[in-house]
Amino acid sequence: MPFPQTRLRRLRATGALRGLVRETRLDAGDFIYPMFIAHGSDRREPIDAMPGIDRLSIAHAVDEAGEAGALGIPAVLLFGLPAAKDEEGSGAWDDEGVVQLATRAIKQAHPDLLVVADLCLCEYTSHGHCGVVRPDGRVDNDATLELLARTACSQARAGADIIAPSDMMDGRVAAIRAALDDDGHHDTPILAYSAKFASAFYGPFREAADSAPAFGDRRSYQMDPANADEAIREARLDVEEGADLVMVKPALPYLDLIRRIKDDTAMPLVAYNVSGEYAMVKAAAAAGYLDERSAVLESLTGIRRAGADIVITYHAKEAARWLR
Ligand code: PBG
Repeated sequence: MPFPQTRLRRLRATGALRGLVRETRLDAGDFIYPMFIAHGSDRREPIDAMPGIDRLSIAHAVDEAGEAGALGIPAVLLFGLPAAKDEEGSGAWDDEGVVQLATRAIKQAHPDLLVVADLCLCEYTSHGHCGVVRPDGRVDNDATLELLARTACSQARAGADIIAPSDMMDGRVAAIRAALDDDGHHDTPILAYSAKFASAFYGPFREAADSAPAFGDRRSYQMDPANADEAIREARLDVEEGADLVMVKPALPYLDLIRRIKDDTAMPLVAYNVSGEYAMVKAAAAAGYLDERSAVLESLTGIRRAGADIVITYHAKEAARWLR
């Protein structure tokens, strides 16, 4: 029945009616809060391009993780900023490395909070690439797998609840699954950064983690932003290799893939609302160009509406407060 009998505005008339028919709800329980763990003690250093996000030494990270938990956020994602970097990235699989120490400390203080360990070498390598660099400058896929597997086991031994490989090497999920199983960690899930694009929106993160590649770029392993079918193939392969959750990253420029991969795989779908997406909103809000709270909640709702079950976001704590 067309207008005038049909009037879609009827259900928009009051807050109660709009709430009744709302299709997507935001909940702190769907957020993961990323944190940067610095070596040393008593450090809390602001990150210029990410107002509100600091590099934290372990004791501060334990406090902040506790705050996130108290706000109803079920999980934190840890990135490590080691004291020293080398060619191989050996700090990544050091049982006493920053992420391992922080994982133990957070799990001890907040046993119910989930710790997700980001698994990548780029924060630990002197050249800033996510894998082993060969003499000709290329990133060696297969040689990297062994180092990733070693790192995953070290993270799981430290008590990480979920291992999240973000390197985009081929075959890493299978290699990590096999290594975790061999080491007795059959029950540790893998959250695969399945469709991770070579994105300009990682800029602030690379400043925060001091992980910009010293030469070249990441386009030989991260995906071309122009490709969608290939992202489906990436996600399917990760599922075949044993991924328990799949991720699309960044989130806002890739909402189509959040939907397509969710529909295609029926897996728990995680979207990463990355550092550049955060920085844009923060900068525009600081300049008075948009209302931060509405812009953040609208963006997070859009990501969930597109098909994400879980959103990794630097806005998590603020959004959780607004949603109370
Ligand atoms: C490591 C990694 C990156 C991000 C998450 N894991 C940076 C990169 O690939 O260069 C980016 C996260 C963000 O921008 O918030 N490989």
